[in-house]
Order: sequence, then C-alpha cells, then structure tokens
Amino acid sequence: MTDESAPIGVFDSGMGGLTVLRALEAALPGESFIYLGDTARLPYGSKSPGTVARYALQASEILVERGIRALVVACNTASAFALDALAERHPELPVFGVVEPGASAAAEAPRGASVLVLATESTVAGGAYQKAILRLRPDLKIHARACPLLVALAEEGEHEGEFCERVLGHYLHGHTAGGSVSDPAVVVLGCTHFPVFREPLRRLLPDHTVVVDSAATTAERVADALVSSGATARHPGRLTLLATDGVRRFTRVGGYFLGRPLDAVELVDL
Ligand code: DGL
Repeated sequence: MTDESAPIGVFDSGMGGLTVLRALEAALPGESFIYLGDTARLPYGSKSPGTVARYALQASEILVERGIRALVVACNTASAFALDALAERHPELPVFGVVEPGASAAAEAPRGASVLVLATESTVAGGAYQKAILRLRPDLKIHARACPLLVALAEEGEHEGEFCERVLGHYLHGHTAGGSVSDPAVVVLGCTHFPVFREPLRRLLPDHTVVVDSAATTAERVADALVSSGATARHPGRLTLLATDGVRRFTRVGGYFLGRPLDAVELVDL
C-alpha cells in the first residue's frame, strides 16, 4: 500500500534537476519532495555510461533509504544511461526519466523540420535523444551539440551577461540562421541545467525557433501516473534538499533554478 505522505525522490548531478523539481511542485501541489544533487561528482555529462549508471544507482539508494514512493531522474545523462538499471534495482517504485518527455516535447515540431538538441557530451554521444525523437517523428532532421561549459556556468550561478551569450553563441555557431548546418525549428534543452539560459538563448535565436525542455512534460507524466494510481498527496508538502558537496553554494545559487530561495541543504555522503 502506497504511503501518500512519503516524498517523491528527485536527483541530478547538481542543481540542474531543480528546474524539473520546480515543474513537479507546480504540477503536484501538496506533495513532499526530497532532492539530491550529487555535486561532489558533477559533471556526469563527461563520464562514461558505466560510471554514470554507478553514480545514479548510488544516488537512488540515498533517496530510497529515506522512504520515497516514486523516483524522478532529473538528469538527462543519468536518464540516458541508467533508467533501466534504476527500474530493475527498485522494482517497487515508479521510476521516471527526462529524455522521453523531452523527446515528446520536441516531437511537436513541424513536418520535416530540423531539431537541435543541446545536451552534455555523454548524452549527445549516446544518441538517446536522437533515437527517442526519431522513434516518434522519423521525418525530423536531428542535430545534436554537446555544451559542457554550460553546466559549469549554471552551477556557478552565471546565467546572464556577455560571457554567457558568447558561450551560447559558440555552441550555436553553424546551427542557426546564417549557419550552414541547419536552421532549427526547435531547440531542445537536453540537460536539466540549461533552462536557466532560456532568456539569453532566446535573444540569440530567431523568433520562429521554439525552445523546449523536459521539465513540464516530465512533471505531467509523473502527475498523470500518480493521479491514475490514486496516489496523490493531500497534505502540506515538504521539501528536503541534500547535496554531496558545496552546500553553501547550493543554497545560494540553487534558488535561481527552483525559482524561490532555498532553505538549508543537508550534506550527505554517497
Ligand atoms: N543536469 C544533467 C543532465 O541533465 C547533467 C549535468 C552534468 O552533470 O554534466 O544531463
């Protein structure tokens, strides 16, 4: 029997997953959440699939030990490489990733359009987004660009200004109007750290380009699953924040990702 007062566990390599948590809180008011940022081992996006899967399994154990009733993998890299292993390790829990929901958002693109996926190095190399979008929409042309510097910038709390725009411009070079590769109808933020760059990105992209991320679609899926199993909470929600390093910076910078100031962040060891 599901304990409706138990929290939903959410994890990422760092603060990026707070963008997904923000959407989850909006979709599931009254729900309790426990969030883990594995900041000691960030970035996941430059690690091999085996290492990412090992880290993701360890992160999930911390949350499971605290009695969660669903697990949201708020990291595209971990979703790409560890979702099956996580579902196998925790057969008693519903486990949700962010790649499939992000791909569904991209699949709204017009017929035959180009889609540009911005993600971590490992997510791009593994091809999870490319495959997931093409499964839904084989007519689309998919391009993918690894943007590792954006994760470091986001974790530093640098999400605006000239330097950010230069880095974003570097990654978009050749993919936007005037470039030779494509003029994407849709840009997918295929890393949960990237929604903090939505505004500067918008300034660099033509008006007709739609920018999508997986936060809202993931939250909808989680909410639908909990509602259809009759397991939504009806009590004042509580948020517990955990990080494996740098809790002071997490508290200071994390508010921008979540859209409100953060309370204390607890240090945990994996
Ligand atoms: N936020 C993570 C993602 O969505 C990865 C960032 C990183 O650790 O490289 O892929």
